[in-house]
Amino acid sequence: MATVTLRDIHKTYVDHEVIKGVDLDINDQEFVVFVGPSGCGKSTLLRMIAGLEDITSGDLLVDGDRMNDVPPDKRGLAMVFQTYALYPHMTVAENMAFSLRLAGVSKERRMERARDVARILQLEPLLDRKPGKLSGGQRQRVAIGRALVRNPKVFLFDEPLSNLDAALRVQMRLELSGLHESLQSTMIYVTHDQVEAMTLADKIVVLQGGVVEQVGSPLELYHHPRNLFVAGFIGSPKMNFMSVQTVGVQDSGTTVRLPGDATITVPVQPRSLSAGDRATLGVRPEHLRIDANNPTLMGEVLVVERLGGETYLYVKIAGGDTFIVQADGDSRANVRDRVPITIDGNLCHLFDPSGLAIPKAERHHLITVQHHPEVSLKQTEAPLEQTYEQQNQPHPIPRQAE
Ligand SMILES: Nc1ncnc2c1ncn2[C@@H]1O[C@H](COP(=O)(O)OP(=O)(O)OP(=O)(O)O)[C@@H](O)[C@H]1O
Ligand SMILES: [Mg+2]
Repeated sequence: MATVTLRDIHKTYVDHEVIKGVDLDINDQEFVVFVGPSGCGKSTLLRMIAGLEDITSGDLLVDGDRMNDVPPDKRGLAMVFQTYALYPHMTVAENMAFSLRLAGVSKERRMERARDVARILQLEPLLDRKPGKLSGGQRQRVAIGRALVRNPKVFLFDEPLSNLDAALRVQMRLELSGLHESLQSTMIYVTHDQVEAMTLADKIVVLQGGVVEQVGSPLELYHHPRNLFVAGFIGSPKMNFMSVQTVGVQDSGTTVRLPGDATITVPVQPRSLSAGDRATLGVRPEHLRIDANNPTLMGEVLVVERLGGETYLYVKIAGGDTFIVQADGDSRANVRDRVPITIDGNLCHLFDPSGLAIPKAERHHLITVQHHPEVSLKQTEAPLEQTYEQQNQPHPIPRQAE
């Protein structure tokens, strides 16, 4: 059992406030991922939980006990860093068992524990090797093993896979997912990688400038981003935005006029906007279609990126914005072509002038059902309702990345 609770956590370096009041509830066995632009405070927050940074104000609770003044090694947490920093003169077994040696555990017991952990991480054949003779992935597994031997209540990972090449990252990602499944422990994980965040997380925390912008399941953030910042941050390539004018607000949706004069209706709740108001329309590249049959608008192709399985077209549309369109891998589009683009209002997002999303008329069907069966209902459902409530509250304009 290990819950982690953050209550109004602040961190100030000299006179520079980098964490500006973070509240967060992390449930037992949950895999929580922190994402956000560089410098937003992800590592600082993790290091405060680990006890490697002082907490300027607020409360950190593990299993309900206040941890602010408890030394790192007494918190029952273990951290894995991006740079795994193994001791080069020690074997894999000695590296993994080092913290137990410091804790005065007998050699026999230490080696037994190292063998147990090596079995979990498939490092058994390498126990007597030195780190210099290991691959990057194997070294990172040893670094994870070093955390594992301590049998922590909570694992903290700060971009543990960033130093690995693309293929190894995928392999280690799957291993981490399996590890979480088998250990059933609480994990807090910082990453820049969208795919890691979307695939590993039960719950993603999006941070910007030391503030939490939204907390939710990966699909919650993808389908129901709370504001322009989250909408632009989650998803790759990022969501397209254009300035539009509201022409009508009905119960079934809000109709907006696009540059070039086409109108579309977005099924959002009838609130916040009135006819005549400016708004921002958001639509993801994967939800746009190149389709000559009754297109919504025309555009000129500026750049074509062929990835094999799909093609990204950078298209200049009426009004001057550039949209990214995800087309088929065998799209024939070329630079300077004029292409017809179809936008389905059902797949669009609408934001009021303050940057706050207008709540969708209906929840996405995958979010109303249980997404992670092993996580209790209260965890995935309660925050959704809360988010809905929060969406009705006034919200500050999303801040720019620092
Ligand atoms: N020891 C320090 N003294 C002063 N400022 C610091 C210190 N450590 C971090 N900062 C500042 O705190 C802010 C948050 O840093 P942090 O390392 O938490 O960011 P991050 O989100 O982990 O970024 P990245 O994605 O680049 O790792 C940054 O503006 C950084 O310059
Ligand atoms: Mg960092």
